[in-house]
Amino acid sequence: MEEIVSKVSERTKIPVYSRTIENVLSAVLSSDDVWRIVDLSEEPLPLVVAVLNTLGELGYLEFDGSRIILTTKGRELVEKYGIGPRRDYTCSHCAGRTVELDEFSDLLAEFRAIVRDRPEPKHDFDQAYVTPETTVARVALMHSRGDIENREVFILGDDDLTSVALMLSGLPKRIAVLDIDDRLVRFIERAAAEIGYSNIDMFTFDLREPLPDYALHKFDTFITDPPETVDAIRAFVGRGIATLKGPGCAGYFGLTRRESSLDKWREIQRLLLNEFGVVVTDIIRNFNEYVNWGYEEETRAWKLLPVKVKPSYNWYKSYMFRIQTLEGSRGFEDRITAGDELYNDEEASTT
Ligand SMILES: [Fe+2]
Repeated sequence: MEEIVSKVSERTKIPVYSRTIENVLSAVLSSDDVWRIVDLSEEPLPLVVAVLNTLGELGYLEFDGSRIILTTKGRELVEKYGIGPRRDYTCSHCAGRTVELDEFSDLLAEFRAIVRDRPEPKHDFDQAYVTPETTVARVALMHSRGDIENREVFILGDDDLTSVALMLSGLPKRIAVLDIDDRLVRFIERAAAEIGYSNIDMFTFDLREPLPDYALHKFDTFITDPPETVDAIRAFVGRGIATLKGPGCAGYFGLTRRESSLDKWREIQRLLLNEFGVVVTDIIRNFNEYVNWGYEEETRAWKLLPVKVKPSYNWYKSYMFRIQTLEGSRGFEDRITAGDELYNDEEASTT
């Protein structure tokens, strides 16, 4: 195992542990589909690729067309270390989101109808939207935590159209949306007119810029789905916190295992605790499910993968974080000078 770990380390800057190799082997025992292997192993895609290539080179795996198969030597390896197939016991009723959507079935149907002609994801803006069930589950989750009814809600980047589901719920006192993409801003404006919801403010805005006064310290709740470099988390989540009125407010954001190692998670958790002084109240595994965005072949993931096959299901998911502000919490209000490195690090693969 040490030999495998050290060979994988030569291929990547992402930290490698024997647990990493076990996670990938366990996933290979459950599926021969490379996307499912990334999904089940819960390791960053470029790290999974480094492990697969190393195991292939050492004769433990073969790449057979679009499939990844354990060789006899590979079978002996997993037996020696007592590694079994990774099981998936996700609750089929709530898809692991922990919230019941029965009361929201009309809202879900209306949401589907309104978003039918939504703008398609734009690669330039790192966009990829979540399923309608995910968006509506966000409303259920936020409502269950007391974060939307008669609250002022701020949305930083809304290709998921969470604002549309919030408007349909009629619960927030006011909604504000910032997005860099004016196709989305116009789409949400039209949806607001159709729904008849007037307490919404829309702004075309680049979040690398410091937030204007109308956004600072005026909201009860924010939601954002940032790119996953530490600097992007600082910028997006930090700006989200800067929109909040003070202690007792809440924020929501997604964080994936597909593009962020647990080493990066630890840095992000440090940022939340030490720089922002907020507390994490909820982390819900694979809450956010993303619709395959159609530009897979243009992504780093596609270049890296040892077998070229389109994903056959929504493999990309992120955990939902909820944070709450306390006395002494503070956000981030500085300008961001970073360019492309704001969106990309060693672990990124979908841009
Ligand atoms: Fe459940």
